[in-house]
Amino acid sequence: MPISIAILVSGRGSNMKAILDAVRAGELDAKVAVVLSNNPDAEALELAGRYDVPAVAIASKGKNRQQHEQEVLNCLAKYEVDFVVLAGYMRVLTPSFLQAFRHSAGYFRVINIHPSLLPAFPGANAYEDAFNYGVKVSGSTVHLVDEQVDHGPILAQAAFTRLDSDTLESFKGRGLALEHSLYPKVLQQISQDGIELLLGTSSKPTAVSLGETR
Ligand code: GAR
Repeated sequence: MPISIAILVSGRGSNMKAILDAVRAGELDAKVAVVLSNNPDAEALELAGRYDVPAVAIASKGKNRQQHEQEVLNCLAKYEVDFVVLAGYMRVLTPSFLQAFRHSAGYFRVINIHPSLLPAFPGANAYEDAFNYGVKVSGSTVHLVDEQVDHGPILAQAAFTRLDSDTLESFKGRGLALEHSLYPKVLQQISQDGIELLLGTSSKPTAVSLGETR
């Protein structure tokens, strides 16, 4: 039984595309029920349409957070999703939004990808922050969302080495390619084995390799 997911985006949508491509290629056993953006001009919306996925804009501009989140919840309620998957969704979710996705085991069924090895470099400019700090290794983190920003139980991380020749652009490019590989694999692992394995609350061995990268 494929997992049903809603993907929340705000902009370019390259992680959303990686997920949709993995579904199309049969590498990810998931149904993308809806793509939702808080930004009506997001490139991701047009891109989602090309995959025949419902693409909905619910503008956040000019609304207070509670009003906007309620509209998003009303929309998501139509789709009965197992997980809300954040893919470059640049809005902080409030505890009351998260409560709508509370699992009986205590976690929220909301997953995020962040472009650093959390807990290092939370925030909206993680690649720049890590690069400017002078890190020798960086990476990306897929985690469950909790009430704090870029925080919550880590499901998977993948790392890459900074090269002496790296510019910020090449550093970002390799990081993003790693995100595109990691996110669909983590979702597939959840679909196949359940999230408990990644949370470390199952003793079952995993069949999906999240892979080594450099
Ligand atoms: C990605 O790098 C994602 O990890 C990051 O925004 C970018 C969105 O790109 N997310 C965050 O920084 C969340 N704190 P995309 O729209 O092309 O997927």
